[in-house]
Amino acid sequence: MCGIIGYIGPKVAYPILLTGLKRMEYRGYDSAGISTISIEDNQRAVNIVKKQGKVSNLENKQTELQGNLGLAHTRWATHGQPSELNSHPHFNDDKSLMLVHNGIIENYLTIKRNLEQRGYVFHTQTDTEVLTKLIDYYHKKCKQKLSTTLQNYEQKKDPLELALRAALHDVVGAYGIVLFHKDTNKLYAAKHGSPLVIGIGKNEHFVASDPAAFLDHTRRVLYLEDEDIAIIKENSYELKSLCSHNGECIKRKEDLVDWDITAVEKNGYEHFMLKEIMEQPQTLANCLAGRLDPQLNDIKFTLKLTLNFIKNIKRISIIACGTSSYAAMAGKFLIEKYLRIPTEVEVASEWRYKNPIISKDDLVIVISQSGETADTLAALKLAKQFGAKTFGIINVVGSTMSREVDSGIYIHAGPEICVASTKAFTAQVLCLNFLLIKLGKIRGDLTETQIQRMISNLLNTPELVKQSLNNIEQIKAAANLIKDKQSIFYLGRGINFATAKEGAIKIKEISYIHAEDFASGEMKHGPIALLEKGFPVVTFVNKNDPLYEKNLSSIQEAKARGAYIIVVADHIDSTLQSYADTILQVPKVPDYLQPLINTIPLQLLAYYTAKLRGCEIDQPKNLAKSVTVE
Ligand code: G6P
Repeated sequence: MCGIIGYIGPKVAYPILLTGLKRMEYRGYDSAGISTISIEDNQRAVNIVKKQGKVSNLENKQTELQGNLGLAHTRWATHGQPSELNSHPHFNDDKSLMLVHNGIIENYLTIKRNLEQRGYVFHTQTDTEVLTKLIDYYHKKCKQKLSTTLQNYEQKKDPLELALRAALHDVVGAYGIVLFHKDTNKLYAAKHGSPLVIGIGKNEHFVASDPAAFLDHTRRVLYLEDEDIAIIKENSYELKSLCSHNGECIKRKEDLVDWDITAVEKNGYEHFMLKEIMEQPQTLANCLAGRLDPQLNDIKFTLKLTLNFIKNIKRISIIACGTSSYAAMAGKFLIEKYLRIPTEVEVASEWRYKNPIISKDDLVIVISQSGETADTLAALKLAKQFGAKTFGIINVVGSTMSREVDSGIYIHAGPEICVASTKAFTAQVLCLNFLLIKLGKIRGDLTETQIQRMISNLLNTPELVKQSLNNIEQIKAAANLIKDKQSIFYLGRGINFATAKEGAIKIKEISYIHAEDFASGEMKHGPIALLEKGFPVVTFVNKNDPLYEKNLSSIQEAKARGAYIIVVADHIDSTLQSYADTILQVPKVPDYLQPLINTIPLQLLAYYTAKLRGCEIDQPKNLAKSVTVE
């Protein structure tokens, strides 16, 4: 979803801002814009270029976009259609104030009406124009007030900072904003609900919604927290709180980003998606690194929960969205099977509004790649309000959720650029296994022998994933067979139901083929009516599955109606060959690793199908990587 980058320093801002926008293209957007100003320029002319469509439309604009202070934005339309007019930056009437915004201002219509009564005219349908003009309104008022006050200390106050505070007190909703005014050599940033991070360089500063935007220049960062206001100059920055009226500065610890820019480059792959699929042996090795201790027969991470709480957990709720919610489903299956703790999985957008039943003996787990998904974040806050203990399984280090949870575990998958999630899913499943072992050991639900076996299997995952990546030619052939189909079914039972869901969403997201997932047993309660000759059905057969025979029967039911059967299987024998049209073989693993292993050929199937259909794989239409609005 929308991306923000701002720069102030001795260099020319335009190329830095343009590269920053390109680094965030993966988030999904429909228009982009840049505004700059020269600190040295006595005329203080503000430059602005906005375009609908790709960031590349902003290339070769160096003559129009001079200056060493600026901000830039990629927009994903919420209020008002994608267009040059609605794109950011937004500005006041004399174009002295420029603002970019991520998030949604919920009460923008009320504010708009008030401002209209004061003579403001609006040219776009966006909530961001309203926020810009609200700040402009207060700015003019504060300037007037400060110029008439005789007290010295009042005169030292910055009218734009005062205006920003006043405006943000009026708004309801979520925002990450960056702005500048032509009369001040500063960037102003504020956050409530949408991520922002300051990049600290040598005599220069950056501010962005994602550190990837400025990682070419610095890895020293400061993550803003909700209600922070940052005033950023060339050589320094000040952090203040919107809640404090005195405007005193806050001190907060800086961080170092622990990945470098190569992590957000394609490294010779045609698409980020393929790169991210192929790097899974490494990302899983990173996730495992130093965490499993075969000597102690334990997992090394801190739960920050008392022994008493862990032993008496009444219920676990796992809340997530999209692909992360399918990892959650796999987790539910395993927790209920191995630990016998009742576990619910619900998508965050439903859970947060259903008046959920939560008690102090419940553990609420949130799973999120980005750590910023608006619904999951809101659910997390709600769970905390109800007094539940919270645990996060999160990829992005320093993200809002990672700072909100009581405790958690980073999946260490590295930056995931393709909108469709792949390596995050497998690392999430691995981390759910860590949690399973940790809880199982403390509660005594798992025996030492079971834990020993699990740990040794988990340590083998990178190698097993490598083997699962071997079916490329066969997968390409299967992709060729399904590429022109209207619809595909993904069937799974037990632990493989979650994988069926993940397989179906992958193909929907990037190849735009309609796909539906069903619990295999549900086929005969409706979906089977749709089957006809050549209808692709993707499913799973694991030899040691107690429901092996039932899986074969489901295949037979579909086959009898002429379906084209693609099976992900951990063996090939004459029985399976007689049932399946295509077998994608994966290594034999216990059920707790099946979602991780069985999903690999389905990621590749989606990728090669989308490629054959000529789809824009890394940035599918209408989708965003990180959904920071409701
Ligand atoms: C978006 C992305 C999905 C992702 C979902 C949840 O819809 O396109 O790939 O699974 O958000 O995101 P999260 O960052 O919370 O895992």
